[in-house]
Amino acid sequence: MKGPVEPFKIKVIESVKIPSEKRRMEAIREAGFNTFLLLSEDVFIDLLTDSGTSAMSDNQWAGMMIGDEAYAGSKNFFNLEKAVQDVLGYKYIVPTHQGRGAEHLMYKTLTNEGQIVPRNMYFTTSKVHVELAGGTMVDVIIDNAHDPENGHPFKGNIDFKKLEKLIEEHGPEKIAFVNVEMDVNMAGGQPVSMQNLREVRELCNNYKLKVIFDTTRSSENAYFIREREKGYENTPIVDILREMMSYSDGCIYSSKKDCLVNIGGFLATNDKDIFQKTRGMVVVYEGLHTYGGMAGRDMEAVARGLREGAQYEYLKYRINQVRYLGELLKEGNVPIVKPVGGHAVFIDALKFLPHLPRERWPAQTLSSEIYADSGVRTMERGAISKGRDKITGKNIFPKLELVRLTIPRRVYTNTHMEYTAESIINLYEKKDTIPGLKMVFEPEYLRFFQARFEQLSFPQQVIYS
Ligand SMILES: Cc1ncc(COP(=O)(O)O)c(C=O)c1O
Repeated sequence: MKGPVEPFKIKVIESVKIPSEKRRMEAIREAGFNTFLLLSEDVFIDLLTDSGTSAMSDNQWAGMMIGDEAYAGSKNFFNLEKAVQDVLGYKYIVPTHQGRGAEHLMYKTLTNEGQIVPRNMYFTTSKVHVELAGGTMVDVIIDNAHDPENGHPFKGNIDFKKLEKLIEEHGPEKIAFVNVEMDVNMAGGQPVSMQNLREVRELCNNYKLKVIFDTTRSSENAYFIREREKGYENTPIVDILREMMSYSDGCIYSSKKDCLVNIGGFLATNDKDIFQKTRGMVVVYEGLHTYGGMAGRDMEAVARGLREGAQYEYLKYRINQVRYLGELLKEGNVPIVKPVGGHAVFIDALKFLPHLPRERWPAQTLSSEIYADSGVRTMERGAISKGRDKITGKNIFPKLELVRLTIPRRVYTNTHMEYTAESIINLYEKKDTIPGLKMVFEPEYLRFFQARFEQLSFPQQVIYS
C-alpha cells in the first residue's frame, strides 16, 4: 500500500521534534490529561484538529499581500462574496471571525425559546448556540451512523422517518429549522448524499420549514458524492457544490477547514430576510458587514482557498491521505470507524480499551496515552465532548466514544501517517496496561476544551457510586 501522490511541492518548512519520553509524561500531567491543554511545542505530529491548521498555497499568500484593510468596503470582501457566489451559488454573504460567529448569528436569528432543531447528529458549538438561543438540538441521523462497523456510503444522511415523526409529534411551528451538516464531524467525517439533501428539501417544503446547512466540510462531501453516487462520476466538484446548496435556504461555514485558511468564517443565504437580520446583528457581535471580524488579507485568503479547496485533484489527494492512515491502522487491527471519513480517522475507544467503564472516559484516556507514547496529539470525541443533559444534568454517554486523528490539509507527509499508525499499533498491543481517568475540573460550557483529569491506578477502575 502506498500513500497518495501530493499535487504540490513544498516551498517552506517548519521544524518539529519528538519530545523525550520524560518530557511527554510531564507534559500530559501538566495538561491535566487533556490534549487541548498541551503546549504546541511539546507536540511532534499535531492531529488535534483540521481547523485553521492548513498550509496555505503561494497563491493564498500572494493574496494576503493585497489585503485592503479599510474599515468599510474592503475590496477583499467583494472578492470573497464573488467566490461564494461562484463556488456555492449563494447570493448574500455575512462574514464572521470563524464558524461559531456565523452559528451565533444564524441560530439566534432563526430559533425561538422552546423550539427544536433537528440535525444529523450534533456538533459541539452548533449545539451550544442553539441552546443559548433557547432551543434544543435533536439528532435525526440514520442509525447506521451510530455503528462504527457499519459501511454505509452516506452515513451522514438524515433519517426521514425520525425527522417526520419529530415534526408530526411537535408540530411544524415548534421546529426552528432543519440543520444538515456536510461530512458529519462527530459521526467520523461521514458524507450526506445528494439524494438525501434533495429529499430533505422536499419534506421541509411540505411543512414550510427552512433548511440550513453546516457547509464546513462541503467540498470534501462533494468529493464523496462524485466518488460514490450514481450520476455524479464525471460532474465537476463546483457543479456538485452548487446543486447541494440549492437545496438549502442558507448555510454557516467555518472557513478554517475546506477553505484552507487559518482563520475565518461566514454565513451565506439566498433569503433576503435572513440576510437582513444577520447583517444587522453582525455589527454588534463581529464587526462591520464588510469584514465581520476578519482582516482584509484573511478574507482574500478565504476567497482564494474556497476555490482551491474545490479542485478535484487536491480533494482526491486529501481524501486518500486520510484513507491511507485508516488503512494502515486497519492492517494493524486497530478498531476504527468504517468507512474512513473525509477529514479524520476515528478510533473506537470502547473497543480499544474494553476494560474501562464509560465513567473512566475511555476516549479521553486513549488520546492522552497516544500523546504520552508517541508525541502525536489527537482529540476525544465522545462523552466528554457530548456533555451533560440540559434538564437532568447527568452525563450523556453517546454510542460513539471516539478518538479523532484529524489530518491538517497539505501539512503532513505520508511518512508522518506511517509513524502515527506504527505508534498506535504498538500501543494497541499493550492496551490492557492502560489505566483510566477521573475528571477533577469541569467547565460549564464546551467542557472538552478545558476539563482536567487525574490518572487512576488499576484497583480504582471500579466505580462504586
Ligand atoms: C461541523 C462544524 N461546524 C462548526 C464548527 C465551528 O467552527 P469554528 O471552529 O470555526 O468556530 C466546526 C469546527 O470545528 C465544525 O467542525
